[in-house]
Amino acid sequence: QSPHTEFWSRNKPNMPGLLLGDEFPNFEADTTIGRIKFHDFLGNSWGILFSHPRDFTPVCTTELACAAKISDEFKKRGVKMIALSIDSVEDHRNWSKDVMAFNSEAESALPFPIIADDKRELSVQLGMLDPDERDKDGMPLTARCVFVIGPDKKLKLSILYPATTGRNFNELLRVIDSLQLTAQKKVATPVDWKPGDKVMVIPSLSEAEATALFPNGVTTKELPSGKKYLRYTQL
Ligand code: BEZ
Repeated sequence: QSPHTEFWSRNKPNMPGLLLGDEFPNFEADTTIGRIKFHDFLGNSWGILFSHPRDFTPVCTTELACAAKISDEFKKRGVKMIALSIDSVEDHRNWSKDVMAFNSEAESALPFPIIADDKRELSVQLGMLDPDERDKDGMPLTARCVFVIGPDKKLKLSILYPATTGRNFNELLRVIDSLQLTAQKKVATPVDWKPGDKVMVIPSLSEAEATALFPNGVTTKELPSGKKYLRYTQL
């Protein structure tokens, strides 16, 4: 049996995956800022935990460099950032210098910590491994996984990309804007929505409730079905 087959037969049953609304595990881990307990790290903030396959790899470097460049935007939204891969703290610290140099900011520190999961325990627990990407020993690498966690410590959003496809961190800011807005108001955000655009009234609200809730008015689009479900409002 190859190390890869042996690893998966042992660990796959322990990779149930997290569902939206699940409480995010309060794991302990070593990171570039020392040992953390995740819920204490988050405090009362929102959080974003994003994994990458490996330190010292090209796509990962571009992703973390972008995340660093726009970290103030996450801060503005009250979102604590933390990265993760199956490398050591020492590798993370050394690679962070490459990431910041890639941004032409070699003098600055990476503005968020990276979790060291060299034993792959957390990656198994959180369902982050990519069966198609292996290291030189045949062991699986972390996929490009993103979890957004609310101040109540519950999972609000997750995405999972393979190692070969880099993510769009500006899209993550856009979805956080939507998550934070829709946590407060009874609205949903349509395709390609950005802050300031019209939003949709959620289907569970009656016409009377919608009129009372949205003083700027509700516009209903006429559709062939005659059903009045496509309702916009401007907040
Ligand atoms: C990268 O970050 O470039 C990468 C890492 C693992 C597999 C493929 C690409």
